[in-house]
Amino acid sequence: MAPWRLLPGLLLAIGAAARWVATPETVRPRVVREQLLWVSGEGRGGVHTFRVPLLVVTPGGALLACAEGRKRSAADVGAKVIACRRSPDGGATWGPTRVAADDGWGGDGLSLGALAVAGGEVLLLFARCAHPPQACGPPGTLLLRSRDDGVSWDPPQNLSGVLDNQVFAPGPGYGIQKQRAPARGRLIFCGHGTLERDGVWLLLSDDGGRRWRRGGALPAIPFDAPRHPRDFTPDECQPYELPDGSIGVNIRNQGGFRCRCRMVARSWDGGESLPPTAVTFQPALPDPPAAASVLLTAGTLFFSNPAHESQRVNLTLRWSFTNGSSWWGRGLQVWAGPSGYSAMAAPPPHAQGPSPVLYIIYEKGRSIPTETVSLVTVSIAGDL
Ligand SMILES: *[C@@H]1O[C@H](CO)[C@@H](O)[C@H](O)[C@H]1NC(C)=O
Ligand SMILES: *[C@@H]1O[C@H](CO)[C@@H](O)[C@H](O)[C@H]1NC(C)=O
Ligand SMILES: *[C@@H]1O[C@H](CO)[C@@H](O)[C@H](O)[C@H]1NC(C)=O
Repeated sequence: MAPWRLLPGLLLAIGAAARWVATPETVRPRVVREQLLWVSGEGRGGVHTFRVPLLVVTPGGALLACAEGRKRSAADVGAKVIACRRSPDGGATWGPTRVAADDGWGGDGLSLGALAVAGGEVLLLFARCAHPPQACGPPGTLLLRSRDDGVSWDPPQNLSGVLDNQVFAPGPGYGIQKQRAPARGRLIFCGHGTLERDGVWLLLSDDGGRRWRRGGALPAIPFDAPRHPRDFTPDECQPYELPDGSIGVNIRNQGGFRCRCRMVARSWDGGESLPPTAVTFQPALPDPPAAASVLLTAGTLFFSNPAHESQRVNLTLRWSFTNGSSWWGRGLQVWAGPSGYSAMAAPPPHAQGPSPVLYIIYEKGRSIPTETVSLVTVSIAGDL
């Protein structure tokens, strides 16, 4: 077909997309599809329990979902694989599970992790031996790189040197590439330490993921000491870029410092620093605690977590028209029952049409949250 024959349709699509503006009237999220990507307890592929799901839209527009496949038990410590599935068509159909990494059968094993898109590549960052003093070897943080849109992975790059051989457990969630100044193009992952030596750290790359260095840090207080209830203990974290080019980091408040709710750190220098003076607590975002997700898409900031102060239940999607300083209404309850970690992804801005969507992958069960890993497609305008 001659290119100009496409033009009227294209202009219509662009016109419609330009007309769609996020307001309390137009943002009416609705779940339009739900699929179970992994089911625990079946022993398939030698896996006991699937946990810690991650999700990204690849450079080629596919959906890539990855999760820990815990081999012998549901415990954090133990041998695991990284299981990934890919959907080439926006979640309509899914390819089989492929193993991106396998740590064998001994010791502490691997921990997910974060996915990111860097130019035409997909990055997958994970930790090894992140729960000392398990007999496992030195802690490590390893980076996998896919040059074929998330189908296969190059041998891992070992980032332990950059991290002084300290535990850096990324995410769980996604890493970002800055779209605006300052530090446009910079890749940023957030991760945390061990329970005693906890806190969040940013990991930065200015050359598309070849070389990495430490960025801003927000350590626990006290540091390197046994934890007490209510200590200041920033833990699992998800960074996101706001429209003014600043970075927010939504953080698991492990000790329940000040509230059983999320904490948020900010950075105005591209992730070089996370000033403690800018940390806020979010009573509007109760958390049990667990890993949660934040995503800016279709002009709206979204947040997902099990919305409960002490139990992993009530997986809820919320949205904000104020860059996260307030949250609209009561949100959308995705699953009332047991639900745990969640991660979100959406097509890039140019691919969000007049009917924008986002995807939430989360731990979902009937009696415990780790029974399945489920993926929902959400129509943001509720019109699909
Ligand atoms: C990563 O490199 C460190 C040295 O910096 C080494 O001690 C460790 O064994 C390596 N880990 C892996 C999994 O290769
Ligand atoms: C959100 O951030 C953008 C960019 O800085 C700003 O223009 C807008 O006013 C902010 N919205 C609110 C409600 O604060
Ligand atoms: C679930 O979350 C919604 C949204 O915040 C809240 O209104 C509701 O009270 C929660 N339900 C339970 C059982 O916690």
